[in-house]
Amino acid sequence: MTGNSTVLKTRGLSVYYDGEAALRDVDMDIDRNRVTAVIGPSGCGKSTFLRCLNRMNDLVEGARVKGEVLFEGKNVYDDDVDPVKLRRAIGMVFQKPNPFPKTVFDNVAYGPRLHGVGDRSGLREVVENSLRRAALWEEVSDRLDESALSLSGGQQQRLCIARAIAVEPEVLLMDEPASALDPVATSKIEDLIHDLKEEYTVVIVTHNMQQAARISDTTGVFLTGGVLEEYDSTGKIFENPDSKRVEDYITGKFG
Ligand SMILES: Nc1ncnc2c1ncn2[C@@H]1O[C@H](COP(=O)(O)OP(=O)(O)OP(=O)(O)O)[C@@H](O)[C@H]1O
Ligand SMILES: [Mg+2]
Repeated sequence: MTGNSTVLKTRGLSVYYDGEAALRDVDMDIDRNRVTAVIGPSGCGKSTFLRCLNRMNDLVEGARVKGEVLFEGKNVYDDDVDPVKLRRAIGMVFQKPNPFPKTVFDNVAYGPRLHGVGDRSGLREVVENSLRRAALWEEVSDRLDESALSLSGGQQQRLCIARAIAVEPEVLLMDEPASALDPVATSKIEDLIHDLKEEYTVVIVTHNMQQAARISDTTGVFLTGGVLEEYDSTGKIFENPDSKRVEDYITGKFG
């Protein structure tokens, strides 16, 4: 790989819920094949920001988005962008694992089927590959026909990651993907995120500063009011931030 390229750019991005600003004028460049962490106190707009990137806010009643989100140079809010296609390219994993009440196999095969992979052997291949990349294959290869709901929480979350990967997205958005998991499952997810960046760009919201410091290359700190207070390499943010407010937040003085 030669240097970094920017895959996502926000310009003057603001979000209002029923007229009230939750995100204010955010400019952020997100590099390809990197893990970008988004941190900040509760209510500062982290989830709102993440949802803007693949237009999930379209589905939120009362939400209005201003400004631009450029994905490979194209504003995702342009009229000719199909949000369903966009969400295929920019997938999302949520805080609470949300597998469909279907078999393990059918969860992962869901997207590929929707996008036209019909034959059984093609599907089997996609399912196996996705489960391998999500570091789950060894645990479920003999449970493919069992209900996804019979898996543990940590396995369910990796299944949701496999489901997101199965449609070959370019970017994976993760909103506190490990916050409902125990330390062992959390560490598996963290290792997985580290491996995923070879193929994908990951943007992850986390409440856990140590986690952000461990797994990310770049960190954005949002503060109350939806302002991106500082955005820089993770080392800089955690060791020597420019903003006193960021330093106070990182060192636990508030938030
Ligand atoms: N659907 C909604 N309708 C109205 N207000 C909302 C909606 N979603 C979020 N908000 C408000 O927007 C602000 C930002 O919310 P958001 O969920 O993005 O914060 P967050 O940083 O993800 O918080 P947390 O760390 O608690 O998950 C909050 O004040 C919240 O109350
Ligand atoms: Mg949130």
